[in-house]
Amino acid sequence: MANILVAGGAGFIGSHTLLALDTAGHSLVTLDNLSNGHRDSVTIGKLVEGDLHDSALLDRVLTENKIDAVIHFAAFIEAGESVVNPMAFYKNNVAGSLNLINAMIRNNVRTMVFSSTAAVYGQEGGAALLSETLPKLPINPYGHSKWMVECMLRDTAAIGKLDAIALRYFNAAGSDPEGRLGERHDPETHLIPLILDAARGARADIKIFGSDYGTPDGTCIRDYVHVSDLATAHVLAVDRLLTRGGDGTGFYDAMNLGTSNGHSVRQVIEMAKHLTGVDFKVVEQARRAGDPACLVADASRAHTVLGWQPQRSDLKTMIEDTWRFRRNLT
Ligand SMILES: NC(=O)c1ccc[n+]([C@@H]2O[C@H](COP(=O)([O-])OP(=O)(O)OC[C@H]3O[C@@H](n4cnc5c(N)ncnc54)[C@H](O)[C@@H]3O)[C@@H](O)[C@H]2O)c1
Repeated sequence: MANILVAGGAGFIGSHTLLALDTAGHSLVTLDNLSNGHRDSVTIGKLVEGDLHDSALLDRVLTENKIDAVIHFAAFIEAGESVVNPMAFYKNNVAGSLNLINAMIRNNVRTMVFSSTAAVYGQEGGAALLSETLPKLPINPYGHSKWMVECMLRDTAAIGKLDAIALRYFNAAGSDPEGRLGERHDPETHLIPLILDAARGARADIKIFGSDYGTPDGTCIRDYVHVSDLATAHVLAVDRLLTRGGDGTGFYDAMNLGTSNGHSVRQVIEMAKHLTGVDFKVVEQARRAGDPACLVADASRAHTVLGWQPQRSDLKTMIEDTWRFRRNLT
């Protein structure tokens, strides 16, 4: 059992990870400024309302709670918004993380699991699976901000001050299978919740951006992974770091979290129509700038290193779990 600080634990993936960490027996403190999170999503442990930039608060939270490890979800996440407002993303995601890492070093907290993203690869890949060794060529400030934090963690580990694992999620989807939590971004930009909003009549239609890609049905292919499976990966990663027996040399690794199996936009829409029984309106539009045809993980490293095996990341289960939560949203 460890004392774990969950930065950004009031958000979508953080709040689901609280459930998994609790089941694994850990003691939890969430730090969140509630800029995009929800107070009632912190269903376990203590919530400290505060910001990554508040050094005095970070020192207090780390020491008073005898924190052994940090899981760091706190960030702005909208890639499109990052193009319009890049400095806000560098300030929050990069400077905020730098402040957190410095506070950990000051207070001798060695262990961090960091939320990274497939966006670090940019447009790489084509139809091939994306492996961790590909060049990191982000195409927006959001992706750059995440890659910069990975570099900080790697370089701090190299001088023996930190043990860290960066988990590069592909497309997070699904909801807690017991219906306790779900995705509540505002505005929502992720495909499955948007599709289900069309199914429940909360939006007029669902738009397909580009149907002329070089994929079997012409629409973009993405690798969706269930949020509960992501949560499990964090438990495995933090436990792996905490039990590796700190020899003071520092440790860093980065791995993809995906399924190695992509679904096209059209496949997701058809599955949602089938499962909800609603024939909602679909509108085809031109491609958006910066949408690669296909982003699918080579997820073998997380299997090998962490022993991680997704359990709920098939498309039907992810849509059913999301629908159970989302159909009741007001
Ligand atoms: N959702 C996805 O599909 C996806 C994919 C790849 C990577 N990620 C990464 O996973 C992490 C979590 O994503 P999410 O979908 O749960 O996002 P989210 O917005 O739901 O959660 C982020 C949380 O961090 C908090 N936060 C932001 N800045 C903060 C600050 N300066 N101080 C304190 N709290 C702050 C927000 O209030 C929010 O509760 C992010 O780092 C994101 O980059 C998400």
